[in-house]
Amino acid sequence: MDRYRMKVNQILEKDNFSKDEIVLLLGTEGDEKILLFKKSAAVKEKHIGKKVWFRGLIEFSNVCGKDCLYCGIRKGNKNLKRYNLSDEEILAAAKFAYDNRYGSIALQSGELESQLVTSRIENLLYRIKELSDGKLGITLSVGEQKPEVYKKWFDAGAHRYLLRVESTNRDLYRKIHPYNKKHDFDRRLECLKNLQEIGYQTGTGVMIGLPFQTIEDLAGDLLFMNDFNVDMCGMGPYIEHADTPLTEYSGNLLPLRERFDLTLKMIAILRIMMKDINIVAATALQAIDPVGREKAVKIGANILMPNITPGKYRDSYKLYDNKPCTDESAEDCQSCLEARVSLADAEVVYGEWGDSKHYDKRRKDEGRI
Ligand code: 5AD
Ligand code: FES
Repeated sequence: MDRYRMKVNQILEKDNFSKDEIVLLLGTEGDEKILLFKKSAAVKEKHIGKKVWFRGLIEFSNVCGKDCLYCGIRKGNKNLKRYNLSDEEILAAAKFAYDNRYGSIALQSGELESQLVTSRIENLLYRIKELSDGKLGITLSVGEQKPEVYKKWFDAGAHRYLLRVESTNRDLYRKIHPYNKKHDFDRRLECLKNLQEIGYQTGTGVMIGLPFQTIEDLAGDLLFMNDFNVDMCGMGPYIEHADTPLTEYSGNLLPLRERFDLTLKMIAILRIMMKDINIVAATALQAIDPVGREKAVKIGANILMPNITPGKYRDSYKLYDNKPCTDESAEDCQSCLEARVSLADAEVVYGEWGDSKHYDKRRKDEGRI
């Protein structure tokens, strides 16, 4: 065996990696990459099994108060029809999820902070709990908020929160956001801390293949997830959106295929490092490869988020160009995904929340339960 192969093998024997080791693993190709994927698939099988849980995704509004330079629904994008689902439409989507035995839903929207948003979401949470007999798990993904707002929503029944940090390198964070108080790296970290302390299963994630991003940055992102002790993670490739300022830098990007590949390697390495967390197979993977999400499931991901937003709005929640499944209905998404999951030699679990085992362990370690 040559020395490089031996080195990769040696690293894969461990489950705590140094930054240099992660950089090396992110650089694997060919046979060595297969070794990495075999290992991560085995870790998944051992600690999670072949299971995949659904989170029915309701993108309930594309109105956003922020201006992230990469995002298609940024406030400054005037080429976009804004929408906001009615409460009835949101509840109907939640009911669809419950009737179809999805264990959980995820409510996602642009980022807005206001009294109105706070009480609207609080009210929706109570009503969703009511219509599902308390059985539907609820993830929120509605951005940075004050701790008391997070607490209010937690008390109303939300138990998971996704807030992607986007990049853990603060210089890179600054380059891909406007430089002002509304886009403050430290506040984002503060929010993540608050969520964790309140008791949410807390998820974060990053984009992969951003302009100015290095392999070392990505290795740093994985170390951050470990140090921060996240319960869930959603990472996806960065995909340019023509109506955003960051497209100006498209010339220097990695080809889409390489961003895709790098995302799979990030998922695989994270699965080896954090065996019992929930990892999402992000929709953006499918924008690059028609079976991208299934590939992610095979090598480590265990969560899929079928889109159950009413069809007529889907085209307007375009975070990036070429977003898949924007012209399908919720029923289509389910049968399509189920077939896809079985292709990935995995199986959808219905009627269960599918909580991250990591969460219970973390809470015990913290002496909270
Ligand atoms: N490419 C890929 N992902 C994007 N997101 C926003 N814009 C893009 C883009 N251009 C992701 C961000 C955000 C999530 C909802 O969508 O990571 O947190
Ligand atoms: Fe909406 Fe970034 S543009 S949160």
